[in-house]
Amino acid sequence: MIDYKKEIAKIIGSIVKIDDKEIKKMVEKPANNEMGDFSFPCFKLAKELKKSPMIIAQEICEKMKLDAEVFENIEIVNGYINFFVNKERIIKEVLEEVSNKKEEYGKSTLGAGQNIIVEYSSPNIAKPFHIGHLRNTVIGSSLYNMYKYLGYNTIGINHLGDYGTQFGKMIEGYKRWGQEYNIDENPIEELTKIYVRINDLCKKDEDVLKACRDNFKKLEDGDPYCTEIWNKFREVSLNEFNRIYELLGVKFDSLNGEAFYSDKMPEVEELLRNSGRLIKSEGAEIIDLEEEKMGVCMIKKSNGSTTYATRDLAAILYRARTYDFDKCLYVVAYEQNLHFKQIFEVAKLLGIDEKYIKGLQHIPYGMVHLKSGKMSTREGNVIKVEDLLKESISRVKQIIKEKNPDMENLEENARKIGIGAVIFNNVATTIIKDQIFDWDTILNFNGETGPYIQYTYVRTNSVLNNSNGVKDVKKIDFSVLTDKESLEVIKKIYEFNNVIENSVDKNEPSLLARYLLELAKNYSTFYNNNKILVEDEKTKDARVFLTYSVGIVLKIGMKLLGIEMPDKM
Ligand code: ARG
Repeated sequence: MIDYKKEIAKIIGSIVKIDDKEIKKMVEKPANNEMGDFSFPCFKLAKELKKSPMIIAQEICEKMKLDAEVFENIEIVNGYINFFVNKERIIKEVLEEVSNKKEEYGKSTLGAGQNIIVEYSSPNIAKPFHIGHLRNTVIGSSLYNMYKYLGYNTIGINHLGDYGTQFGKMIEGYKRWGQEYNIDENPIEELTKIYVRINDLCKKDEDVLKACRDNFKKLEDGDPYCTEIWNKFREVSLNEFNRIYELLGVKFDSLNGEAFYSDKMPEVEELLRNSGRLIKSEGAEIIDLEEEKMGVCMIKKSNGSTTYATRDLAAILYRARTYDFDKCLYVVAYEQNLHFKQIFEVAKLLGIDEKYIKGLQHIPYGMVHLKSGKMSTREGNVIKVEDLLKESISRVKQIIKEKNPDMENLEENARKIGIGAVIFNNVATTIIKDQIFDWDTILNFNGETGPYIQYTYVRTNSVLNNSNGVKDVKKIDFSVLTDKESLEVIKKIYEFNNVIENSVDKNEPSLLARYLLELAKNYSTFYNNNKILVEDEKTKDARVFLTYSVGIVLKIGMKLLGIEMPDKM
């Protein structure tokens, strides 16, 4: 498909002798489409050429040879050169591309040869999987999908929180009161109760706290009893998490969590010791990062136990060697900003290639609040994600039963809509922003929601079902698509690949989510203003093809976000 930015770069590059790639980066999309489809801001060249933007624009335009098949017009406005694409050409380009690529439209090999690790979800075992983990899971998973679609070699890792002093506590609590709780039936809830109880006891009794710490040390040293209990915690927790992952359709390439690194920490210590920066402080071993204004990074506790940070450092070393990563992205809540600053800083002392240090990136996301009030993770008073997903499905069923009582595939469709609504809500806001969770908003079929996009998709399908099918693109006369609504739709579809590129560039799936909303809205406007199944065959065929293309792009885009499309709504 024609790359308009590249075309502009070629034209301007032949006049101003600046590398085409540089020019391409400068090309913008005007905020308002009356101003053109693309625009080149000449003030970016003003310094280099020592002329005013207006004069540069004029000079470029005088020398420019325009191919009217590509751009039908240009205008100079305030030092911008605005380009208007040839309408017939873009329509033909886009629709032929959709016809060729079908469900692979927008896919590319941009990232070929690059290894990208996306770490996401990473819940702590034996603790409830809460709504924050849900957000991180779906954000990470959509980034994973998008990187893959652009040809990156992508590795999805669930860095399970399955190690650490809290397990010393859990083991102690289990040892004392395990019999009183029905762990097999309701593992995480019951283990949480034990955890809350042992924490209370630790606050009152120093000796118990010490016993807990020793338990974790024993676990690290391979004590059979502690290992057995820990294994049980891990197993029952994973069973529960897996049910959630299954509902969400989320997958990982690796479940190497913190415990995986238990035998890989001596090397980290050794490397840090050799760096000369590891110092003793009150019996513990630390790296002092005060000079970098990052506090102190604890590497080893006074009783010899390893820490969360050490395990992360071991993971960096392991991932560099195993995956030779170009980027290693951590989708983790912003509360851990300091932690990641610290470990990225300390990683510089591990003696690994610069490239790995540069590739480390924390992607912080905001919290989720419930509209109905505050939620506290502490005292076990949390919404269980599994319940939330099931509630979403059952609310959708209720809505459908009112609208469309005899729908076939009710179960299947309600699942796709209910889960899709929750996922979409989580990826549609800028990820750093805190977010409000409210049923009425997320399930609104006409709002800025997943169901709205699904609804639009279902509508495109019913148009296709009522027509005599989609004609071969070569037999379609696209010159009949003269209305401005179809042109808007086509231009949106043209942007698709670029939107995915921007989304991974900024690690921001919300860009794709917003795009899909806009495409759905553009299509609705087209649909409301133009009859599709008209008498005139030519017009009908072209409009049906346009409809088909919208459906494909909505479907691919939603799949990248991790959302399936229902067949009816
Ligand atoms: N398990 C941690 C938590 O739930 C998140 C782990 C984040 N990843 C990491 N490499 N530290 O808070």
